[in-house]
Amino acid sequence: MKNEFEENGYFVLRGVLTEAEVDRLARPIRAAFTRGDYVTVRKGPAYPLPGIHAMGPRVLEDHPEIAELSLAHPKIMAAIQEIFGEPAVLAQYWSIMRPPGAGLGDKPFVKGSGAHYDYKPWRTVGSFVKWMFAVIPFADYTETAGPLTVAPGSHRKTTVLPSDGRVHQVDAARVPAPADITLVDPGLKKGDVVLMDGFLWHEPRPNYGNADRAGLYMKFHAKSSPPACGPTIYPSAVHEILPDDARHLVPYHRGDGRYAAIRDEPVGGVDEGRLLIEDSEEKVLVLGNDTDGWRLPKYAAAEDATAGILDVCNVMGSVTGQAREQLGLQLPWLSWLADLADPAPDGDADQWRCRVYGHRLPVAAPALDTARDTTGQYRWMSADDLAGANAAGMLERGAEVLEWLRMWQREEDADGLPVTRSYGVPTTDVAHYSYNRNGNPAGTYRVGVFDDHGRPVPA
Ligand SMILES: [Fe+2]
Repeated sequence: MKNEFEENGYFVLRGVLTEAEVDRLARPIRAAFTRGDYVTVRKGPAYPLPGIHAMGPRVLEDHPEIAELSLAHPKIMAAIQEIFGEPAVLAQYWSIMRPPGAGLGDKPFVKGSGAHYDYKPWRTVGSFVKWMFAVIPFADYTETAGPLTVAPGSHRKTTVLPSDGRVHQVDAARVPAPADITLVDPGLKKGDVVLMDGFLWHEPRPNYGNADRAGLYMKFHAKSSPPACGPTIYPSAVHEILPDDARHLVPYHRGDGRYAAIRDEPVGGVDEGRLLIEDSEEKVLVLGNDTDGWRLPKYAAAEDATAGILDVCNVMGSVTGQAREQLGLQLPWLSWLADLADPAPDGDADQWRCRVYGHRLPVAAPALDTARDTTGQYRWMSADDLAGANAAGMLERGAEVLEWLRMWQREEDADGLPVTRSYGVPTTDVAHYSYNRNGNPAGTYRVGVFDDHGRPVPA
Protein backbone atom coordinates (compact mmCIF):
# COMPACT_ATOMS: atom_id res chain seq x y z
CA MET A 1 0.00 0.00 0.00
CA LYS A 2 2.64 2.53 1.06
CA ASN A 3 4.79 1.99 -2.05
CA GLU A 4 1.81 2.28 -4.36
CA PHE A 5 0.61 5.43 -2.58
CA GLU A 6 4.03 7.04 -2.86
CA GLU A 7 4.37 6.05 -6.54
CA ASN A 8 0.88 7.02 -7.74
CA GLY A 9 -0.14 9.58 -5.14
CA TYR A 10 -3.29 7.68 -4.23
CA PHE A 11 -4.51 4.34 -2.97
CA VAL A 12 -8.03 2.93 -2.81
CA LEU A 13 -9.00 0.94 0.28
CA ARG A 14 -11.62 -1.30 -1.31
CA GLY A 15 -14.71 -2.24 0.65
CA VAL A 16 -13.35 -0.88 3.91
CA LEU A 17 -16.86 0.04 5.07
CA THR A 18 -19.99 -2.05 4.67
CA GLU A 19 -22.93 -0.47 2.83
CA ALA A 20 -24.78 -0.33 6.16
CA GLU A 21 -21.88 1.56 7.76
CA VAL A 22 -21.81 4.08 4.92
CA ASP A 23 -25.56 4.58 5.33
CA ARG A 24 -25.17 5.12 9.09
CA LEU A 25 -22.45 7.70 8.43
CA ALA A 26 -24.38 9.41 5.63
CA ARG A 27 -27.77 9.55 7.38
CA PRO A 28 -27.19 12.59 9.65
CA ILE A 29 -25.23 14.35 6.91
CA ARG A 30 -27.96 13.84 4.30
CA ALA A 31 -30.57 14.90 6.85
CA ALA A 32 -28.70 18.13 7.58
CA PHE A 33 -28.54 18.93 3.84
CA THR A 34 -32.28 18.25 3.58
CA ARG A 35 -33.16 20.67 6.39
CA GLY A 36 -30.77 23.33 5.06
CA ASP A 37 -28.28 23.01 7.91
CA TYR A 38 -25.07 23.44 5.88
CA VAL A 39 -22.57 26.23 5.25
CA THR A 40 -23.26 27.19 1.64
CA VAL A 41 -27.05 27.29 2.02
CA ARG A 42 -27.24 31.08 1.64
CA LYS A 43 -24.93 31.19 -1.34
CA GLY A 44 -27.33 30.25 -4.08
CA PRO A 45 -29.96 27.75 -5.10
CA ALA A 46 -30.31 25.46 -2.10
CA TYR A 47 -30.29 21.67 -2.00
CA PRO A 48 -31.90 19.74 -3.69
CA LEU A 49 -31.35 22.18 -6.57
CA PRO A 50 -28.09 21.65 -8.50
CA GLY A 51 -25.01 23.18 -6.94
CA ILE A 52 -21.98 22.17 -4.95
CA HIS A 53 -23.34 22.20 -1.42
CA ALA A 54 -20.93 21.84 1.50
CA MET A 55 -21.02 21.14 5.22
CA GLY A 56 -18.30 21.62 7.82
CA PRO A 57 -17.61 19.96 11.18
CA ARG A 58 -20.92 21.14 12.66
CA VAL A 59 -22.52 17.71 12.12
CA LEU A 60 -19.99 16.27 14.58
CA GLU A 61 -21.39 18.32 17.46
CA ASP A 62 -24.81 16.69 17.30
CA HIS A 63 -23.61 13.35 15.90
CA PRO A 64 -20.16 12.63 17.31
CA GLU A 65 -20.95 8.93 16.98
CA ILE A 66 -20.18 9.10 13.25
CA ALA A 67 -16.51 9.65 14.12
CA GLU A 68 -15.95 5.90 14.47
CA LEU A 69 -17.33 5.40 10.95
CA SER A 70 -15.16 8.11 9.43
CA LEU A 71 -12.24 10.02 10.94
CA ALA A 72 -11.49 7.38 13.58
CA HIS A 73 -12.51 4.26 11.64
CA PRO A 74 -9.81 1.81 12.76
CA LYS A 75 -8.91 0.62 9.25
CA ILE A 76 -8.82 4.13 7.80
CA MET A 77 -6.79 5.47 10.72
CA ALA A 78 -4.38 2.53 10.53
CA ALA A 79 -3.84 2.97 6.78
CA ILE A 80 -3.19 6.71 7.07
CA GLN A 81 -0.76 6.31 9.95
CA GLU A 82 1.03 3.45 8.21
CA ILE A 83 1.61 5.63 5.15
CA PHE A 84 2.69 8.61 7.28
CA GLY A 85 4.82 6.39 9.50
CA GLU A 86 3.63 8.46 12.46
CA PRO A 87 0.46 9.71 14.18
CA ALA A 88 -2.08 11.66 12.12
CA VAL A 89 -4.17 14.71 13.01
CA LEU A 90 -7.55 15.50 11.48
CA ALA A 91 -7.60 18.79 9.57
CA GLN A 92 -10.72 18.90 7.39
CA TYR A 93 -14.12 17.29 7.91
CA TRP A 94 -16.20 18.42 4.96
CA SER A 95 -19.19 16.84 3.29
CA ILE A 96 -20.05 17.69 -0.30
CA MET A 97 -23.47 17.18 -1.85
CA ARG A 98 -23.78 17.31 -5.63
CA PRO A 99 -27.38 16.77 -6.72
CA PRO A 100 -28.26 15.83 -10.33
CA GLY A 101 -26.96 18.56 -12.65
CA ALA A 102 -24.23 19.71 -10.26
CA GLY A 103 -21.11 20.90 -12.06
CA LEU A 104 -22.91 21.33 -15.39
CA GLY A 105 -22.90 24.76 -17.00
CA ASP A 106 -24.22 26.21 -20.23
CA LYS A 107 -21.34 24.68 -22.18
CA PRO A 108 -20.29 21.02 -22.22
CA PHE A 109 -17.83 20.17 -19.44
CA VAL A 110 -14.22 19.97 -20.62
CA LYS A 111 -12.37 17.14 -18.89
CA GLY A 112 -9.38 18.55 -17.04
CA SER A 113 -10.86 22.06 -16.71
CA GLY A 114 -11.51 21.46 -13.03
CA ALA A 115 -8.18 19.81 -12.23
CA HIS A 116 -6.47 21.30 -9.19
CA TYR A 117 -4.78 20.40 -5.93
CA ASP A 118 -5.25 21.58 -2.40
CA TYR A 119 -1.87 22.62 -0.99
CA LYS A 120 -2.94 26.14 -0.03
CA PRO A 121 -0.79 28.27 2.30
CA TRP A 122 -3.80 30.55 2.95
CA ARG A 123 -5.93 27.80 4.51
CA THR A 124 -5.93 26.02 7.83
CA VAL A 125 -6.78 22.84 5.91
CA GLY A 126 -4.13 23.27 3.20
CA SER A 127 -1.03 24.86 4.73
CA PHE A 128 0.97 21.71 5.52
CA VAL A 129 3.46 19.67 3.53
CA LYS A 130 2.89 16.07 4.62
CA TRP A 131 -0.79 15.30 4.42
CA MET A 132 -3.50 13.39 2.61
CA PHE A 133 -7.16 13.26 1.73
CA ALA A 134 -9.40 10.41 2.82
CA VAL A 135 -12.60 10.50 0.78
CA ILE A 136 -15.62 8.34 1.60
CA PRO A 137 -18.19 8.26 -1.24
CA PHE A 138 -21.77 7.76 -0.05
CA ALA A 139 -22.72 6.21 -3.42
CA ASP A 140 -20.89 4.67 -6.36
CA TYR A 141 -19.02 7.45 -8.17
CA THR A 142 -19.95 6.13 -11.60
CA GLU A 143 -19.24 7.75 -14.97
CA THR A 144 -22.81 9.12 -14.82
CA ALA A 145 -22.81 10.29 -11.20
CA GLY A 146 -19.39 11.87 -11.67
CA PRO A 147 -16.11 10.18 -10.81
CA LEU A 148 -13.44 11.76 -8.62
CA THR A 149 -10.60 11.54 -11.13
CA VAL A 150 -6.89 11.70 -10.27
CA ALA A 151 -3.65 12.44 -12.16
CA PRO A 152 -1.37 9.54 -11.16
CA GLY A 153 2.11 10.68 -10.15
CA SER A 154 1.26 14.40 -10.36
CA HIS A 155 2.09 14.84 -6.66
CA ARG A 156 5.75 14.21 -7.51
CA LYS A 157 5.88 17.41 -9.58
CA THR A 158 5.78 19.41 -6.32
CA THR A 159 8.90 19.56 -4.15
CA VAL A 160 9.20 20.55 -0.51
CA LEU A 161 12.54 22.36 -0.26
CA PRO A 162 15.00 21.97 2.63
CA SER A 163 14.26 24.32 5.50
CA ASP A 164 16.06 27.64 6.00
CA GLY A 165 16.37 26.72 9.64
CA ARG A 166 12.78 27.69 10.46
CA VAL A 167 10.39 27.03 7.55
CA HIS A 168 10.25 25.14 4.27
CA GLN A 169 9.56 26.76 0.91
CA VAL A 170 7.67 24.65 -1.60
CA ASP A 171 8.26 24.45 -5.34
CA ALA A 172 4.60 23.93 -6.14
CA ALA A 173 3.70 22.37 -9.49
CA ARG A 174 1.74 24.63 -11.82
CA VAL A 175 -1.32 22.78 -13.05
CA PRO A 176 -1.34 23.14 -16.87
CA ALA A 177 -4.10 23.33 -19.49
CA PRO A 178 -6.68 20.50 -19.66
CA ALA A 179 -5.10 18.96 -22.77
CA ASP A 180 -1.84 18.49 -20.84
CA ILE A 181 -3.36 16.65 -17.88
CA THR A 182 -3.96 12.90 -17.78
CA LEU A 183 -6.75 12.01 -15.38
CA VAL A 184 -7.94 8.51 -14.54
CA ASP A 185 -11.06 7.29 -12.78
CA PRO A 186 -10.17 5.16 -9.74
CA GLY A 187 -13.67 3.63 -9.89
CA LEU A 188 -14.80 4.49 -6.37
CA LYS A 189 -17.68 2.41 -5.06
CA LYS A 190 -19.80 2.83 -1.98
CA GLY A 191 -17.72 1.31 0.83
CA ASP A 192 -14.37 2.27 -0.69
CA VAL A 193 -12.13 4.98 0.69
CA VAL A 194 -9.56 6.74 -1.48
CA LEU A 195 -6.44 8.15 0.13
CA MET A 196 -4.84 10.95 -1.93
CA ASP A 197 -1.54 12.74 -1.38
CA GLY A 198 -2.09 16.45 -0.66
CA PHE A 199 -0.11 17.44 -3.77
CA LEU A 200 -2.06 15.12 -6.11
CA TRP A 201 -4.02 16.78 -8.91
CA HIS A 202 -7.64 15.70 -9.05
CA GLU A 203 -10.96 16.64 -10.61
CA PRO A 204 -14.57 15.93 -9.67
CA ARG A 205 -16.79 15.42 -12.70
CA PRO A 206 -20.36 16.75 -13.14
CA ASN A 207 -23.36 14.73 -12.03
CA TYR A 208 -25.14 13.68 -15.25
CA GLY A 209 -27.32 11.18 -13.37
CA ASN A 210 -30.60 11.38 -11.52
CA ALA A 211 -29.41 10.66 -7.98
CA ASP A 212 -27.42 12.68 -5.44
CA ARG A 213 -23.66 12.29 -5.48
CA ALA A 214 -22.45 12.96 -1.95
CA GLY A 215 -19.39 12.07 0.07
CA LEU A 216 -17.19 12.94 3.01
CA TYR A 217 -13.88 14.67 2.26
CA MET A 218 -11.48 14.47 5.18
CA LYS A 219 -7.90 15.74 5.33
CA PHE A 220 -5.25 14.51 7.74
CA HIS A 221 -1.76 15.84 8.29
CA ALA A 222 1.19 14.04 9.81
CA LYS A 223 1.79 15.21 13.37
CA SER A 224 5.26 16.35 12.30
CA SER A 225 3.80 18.63 9.63
CA PRO A 226 1.52 21.15 11.35
CA PRO A 227 -0.71 23.60 9.47
CA ALA A 228 1.10 26.94 9.06
CA CYS A 229 -2.19 28.79 9.55
CA GLY A 230 -2.87 26.83 12.74
CA PRO A 231 -5.26 23.97 13.37
CA THR A 232 -8.99 23.78 12.73
CA ILE A 233 -11.00 23.88 15.97
CA TYR A 234 -13.52 21.05 16.41
CA PRO A 235 -16.50 20.61 18.74
CA SER A 236 -15.32 19.04 22.02
CA ALA A 237 -18.07 16.43 21.63
CA VAL A 238 -16.05 14.64 18.96
CA HIS A 239 -12.81 14.70 20.96
CA GLU A 240 -14.58 13.25 23.96
CA ILE A 241 -16.28 10.39 22.13
CA LEU A 242 -13.05 9.09 20.61
CA PRO A 243 -11.44 5.99 22.11
CA ASP A 244 -8.08 6.51 23.81
CA ASP A 245 -6.08 5.33 20.80
CA ALA A 246 -7.79 7.88 18.52
CA ARG A 247 -8.00 11.01 20.70
CA HIS A 248 -4.80 12.39 19.19
CA LEU A 249 -6.70 12.83 15.91
CA VAL A 250 -8.67 15.80 17.32
CA PRO A 251 -6.43 17.63 19.80
CA TYR A 252 -7.86 21.15 19.28
CA HIS A 253 -11.48 21.65 20.29
CA ARG A 254 -13.92 23.89 22.13
CA GLY A 255 -17.00 23.00 24.14
CA ASP A 256 -18.80 26.33 23.89
CA GLY A 257 -19.96 26.08 20.28
CA ARG A 258 -17.15 28.31 18.97
CA TYR A 259 -15.55 25.76 16.62
CA ALA A 260 -14.93 26.14 12.88
CA ALA A 261 -18.27 27.19 11.40
CA ILE A 262 -20.03 29.77 9.28
CA ARG A 263 -22.94 31.27 11.16
CA ASP A 264 -23.98 34.92 10.69
CA GLU A 265 -20.27 35.37 10.08
CA PRO A 266 -17.18 33.14 10.04
CA VAL A 267 -16.42 31.55 13.42
CA GLY A 268 -13.04 30.04 14.21
CA GLY A 269 -12.78 29.93 17.98
CA VAL A 270 -9.49 31.86 18.14
CA ASP A 271 -9.67 34.90 20.45
CA GLU A 272 -6.14 36.25 20.36
CA GLY A 273 -2.96 36.05 18.33
CA ARG A 274 0.61 36.34 19.66
CA LEU A 275 3.72 36.81 17.59
CA LEU A 276 7.17 35.43 18.14
CA ILE A 277 9.06 37.72 15.75
CA GLU A 278 12.72 36.91 15.38
CA ASP A 279 15.22 39.09 13.57
CA SER A 280 18.13 37.93 11.44
CA GLU A 281 20.35 37.71 14.55
CA GLU A 282 18.02 35.45 16.55
CA LYS A 283 16.67 38.28 18.69
CA VAL A 284 12.99 38.37 19.56
CA LEU A 285 10.71 41.41 19.62
CA VAL A 286 9.11 42.23 22.98
CA LEU A 287 6.95 45.20 23.97
CA GLY A 288 6.64 46.83 27.38
CA ASN A 289 9.04 48.53 29.76
CA ASP A 290 11.36 47.78 32.68
CA THR A 291 8.72 48.74 35.25
CA ASP A 292 5.73 46.67 34.10
CA GLY A 293 7.66 43.97 32.31
CA TRP A 294 7.82 42.73 28.75
CA ARG A 295 5.67 40.57 26.53
CA LEU A 296 5.32 39.30 22.98
CA PRO A 297 3.14 41.43 20.68
CA LYS A 298 -0.46 40.24 21.11
CA TYR A 299 -3.65 41.25 19.37
CA ALA A 300 -7.34 40.48 19.43
CA ALA A 301 -7.89 37.90 16.69
CA ALA A 302 -10.63 38.00 14.07
CA GLU A 303 -11.59 35.92 11.08
CA ASP A 304 -11.35 37.52 7.64
CA ALA A 305 -14.87 38.61 6.66
CA THR A 306 -14.68 36.68 3.39
CA ALA A 307 -13.49 33.42 5.01
CA GLY A 308 -15.29 30.25 3.95
CA ILE A 309 -15.60 27.14 6.07
CA LEU A 310 -12.18 25.84 4.94
CA ASP A 311 -10.52 29.19 5.72
CA VAL A 312 -11.76 29.74 9.25
CA CYS A 313 -9.35 29.56 12.23
CA ASN A 314 -6.71 31.41 10.18
CA VAL A 315 -6.50 34.75 11.99
CA MET A 316 -3.29 35.98 10.32
CA GLY A 317 -5.05 38.79 8.44
CA SER A 318 -6.23 40.50 11.62
CA VAL A 319 -2.99 39.91 13.50
CA THR A 320 -0.60 41.10 10.78
CA GLY A 321 -2.88 44.08 10.10
CA GLN A 322 -2.61 45.24 13.71
CA ALA A 323 1.16 44.66 13.78
CA ARG A 324 1.44 46.85 10.68
CA GLU A 325 -0.76 49.60 12.17
CA GLN A 326 0.71 49.61 15.68
CA LEU A 327 4.36 48.79 15.01
CA GLY A 328 4.86 49.69 11.38
CA LEU A 329 6.00 46.13 10.84
CA GLN A 330 5.23 44.26 7.63
CA LEU A 331 4.82 40.51 8.13
CA PRO A 332 4.10 38.81 4.78
CA TRP A 333 3.78 35.36 6.31
CA LEU A 334 3.57 33.54 9.64
CA SER A 335 3.89 29.94 10.74
CA TRP A 336 1.93 28.42 13.60
CA LEU A 337 3.71 27.36 16.78
CA ALA A 338 1.13 26.61 19.45
CA ASP A 339 -2.33 27.31 20.80
CA LEU A 340 -2.98 28.42 24.35
CA ALA A 341 -6.38 27.28 25.59
CA ASP A 342 -7.40 28.63 28.98
CA PRO A 343 -10.43 29.75 30.88
CA ALA A 344 -11.20 33.32 29.83
CA PRO A 345 -8.80 35.90 31.35
CA ASP A 346 -11.70 37.76 32.98
CA GLY A 347 -12.47 34.73 35.09
CA ASP A 348 -15.87 33.73 33.78
CA ALA A 349 -16.60 30.23 32.57
CA ASP A 350 -16.07 30.97 28.91
CA GLN A 351 -13.23 29.35 27.05
CA TRP A 352 -10.42 31.36 25.50
CA ARG A 353 -7.88 30.44 22.84
CA CYS A 354 -4.73 32.22 21.74
CA ARG A 355 -2.83 31.27 18.61
CA VAL A 356 0.94 31.78 18.63
CA TYR A 357 2.69 32.30 15.31
CA GLY A 358 6.37 32.59 14.46
CA HIS A 359 8.11 34.78 11.89
CA ARG A 360 11.72 35.53 11.01
CA LEU A 361 12.70 38.88 9.53
CA PRO A 362 15.49 39.15 6.95
CA VAL A 363 17.03 42.14 8.79
CA ALA A 364 18.56 42.81 12.23
CA ALA A 365 16.64 44.70 14.93
CA PRO A 366 14.70 47.10 12.68
CA ALA A 367 13.54 50.38 14.23
CA LEU A 368 9.80 50.33 14.88
CA ASP A 369 7.17 53.00 15.17
CA THR A 370 5.47 52.16 18.44
CA ALA A 371 3.56 55.45 18.70
CA ARG A 372 0.28 53.58 18.37
CA ASP A 373 1.24 50.75 20.72
CA THR A 374 0.01 51.39 24.26
CA THR A 375 3.14 49.99 25.91
CA GLY A 376 5.24 52.52 24.09
CA GLN A 377 8.58 50.70 24.14
CA TYR A 378 10.10 47.75 22.40
CA ARG A 379 13.27 45.74 22.65
CA TRP A 380 14.97 42.99 20.65
CA MET A 381 15.99 40.33 23.16
CA SER A 382 18.34 37.40 22.71
CA ALA A 383 17.42 34.02 24.16
CA ASP A 384 19.61 34.84 27.15
CA ASP A 385 17.89 38.21 27.61
CA LEU A 386 14.52 36.48 27.53
CA ALA A 387 15.64 33.86 30.04
CA GLY A 388 16.88 36.66 32.31
CA ALA A 389 13.63 38.60 32.01
CA ASN A 390 11.72 35.42 32.78
CA ALA A 391 13.88 34.66 35.83
CA ALA A 392 13.20 38.21 37.07
CA GLY A 393 9.45 37.73 36.60
CA MET A 394 9.48 40.42 33.94
CA LEU A 395 8.34 38.38 30.90
CA GLU A 396 4.64 37.61 30.46
CA ARG A 397 4.14 33.85 30.11
CA GLY A 398 7.91 33.72 30.15
CA ALA A 399 8.35 29.96 30.49
CA GLU A 400 6.04 29.47 27.52
CA VAL A 401 7.83 32.13 25.47
CA LEU A 402 11.11 30.28 26.03
CA GLU A 403 9.41 27.03 25.04
CA TRP A 404 8.02 28.57 21.82
CA LEU A 405 11.46 29.98 21.01
CA ARG A 406 13.01 26.55 21.46
CA MET A 407 10.32 25.00 19.21
CA TRP A 408 10.85 27.71 16.59
CA GLN A 409 14.63 27.75 16.48
CA ARG A 410 15.12 24.01 16.75
CA GLU A 411 12.18 23.15 14.45
CA GLU A 412 10.55 21.01 17.09
CA ASP A 413 7.05 20.53 18.45
CA ALA A 414 5.98 20.86 22.08
CA ASP A 415 7.20 17.28 22.72
CA GLY A 416 10.65 18.00 21.30
CA LEU A 417 10.02 16.04 18.09
CA PRO A 418 11.16 17.39 14.69
CA VAL A 419 8.60 19.29 12.60
CA THR A 420 8.44 20.67 9.06
CA ARG A 421 6.97 24.17 9.33
CA SER A 422 5.87 25.93 6.17
CA TYR A 423 4.56 29.31 5.04
CA GLY A 424 1.12 30.54 6.07
CA VAL A 425 -0.54 33.67 4.68
CA PRO A 426 -3.86 35.48 5.32
CA THR A 427 -6.90 33.91 3.64
CA THR A 428 -7.32 36.99 1.43
CA ASP A 429 -3.92 36.27 -0.15
CA VAL A 430 -5.72 33.61 -2.21
CA ALA A 431 -6.01 36.39 -4.82
CA HIS A 432 -2.25 36.21 -5.44
CA TYR A 433 -2.03 32.48 -6.13
CA SER A 434 -2.98 30.52 -9.25
CA TYR A 435 -0.44 27.65 -9.42
CA ASN A 436 -2.86 25.03 -8.13
CA ARG A 437 -5.66 25.66 -10.64
CA ASN A 438 -5.41 24.59 -14.24
CA GLY A 439 -4.42 26.72 -17.20
CA ASN A 440 -0.88 27.59 -16.09
CA PRO A 441 2.31 27.43 -18.11
CA ALA A 442 4.35 24.36 -17.21
CA GLY A 443 6.81 24.50 -14.33
CA THR A 444 6.66 25.34 -10.66
CA TYR A 445 5.84 28.31 -8.45
CA ARG A 446 7.90 28.89 -5.31
CA VAL A 447 5.67 29.34 -2.27
CA GLY A 448 7.46 31.45 0.37
CA VAL A 449 8.89 34.31 -1.73
CA PHE A 450 7.49 37.81 -1.20
CA ASP A 451 7.99 41.21 -2.85
CA ASP A 452 8.86 44.57 -1.25
CA HIS A 453 5.20 45.17 -0.45
CA GLY A 454 4.96 41.88 1.42
CA ARG A 455 2.88 40.25 -1.29
CA PRO A 456 3.57 36.79 -2.74
CA VAL A 457 5.70 37.28 -5.85
CA PRO A 458 3.70 37.08 -9.08
CA ALA A 459 3.97 33.80 -10.98
FE1 LIG B 1 -9.76 19.33 -4.21
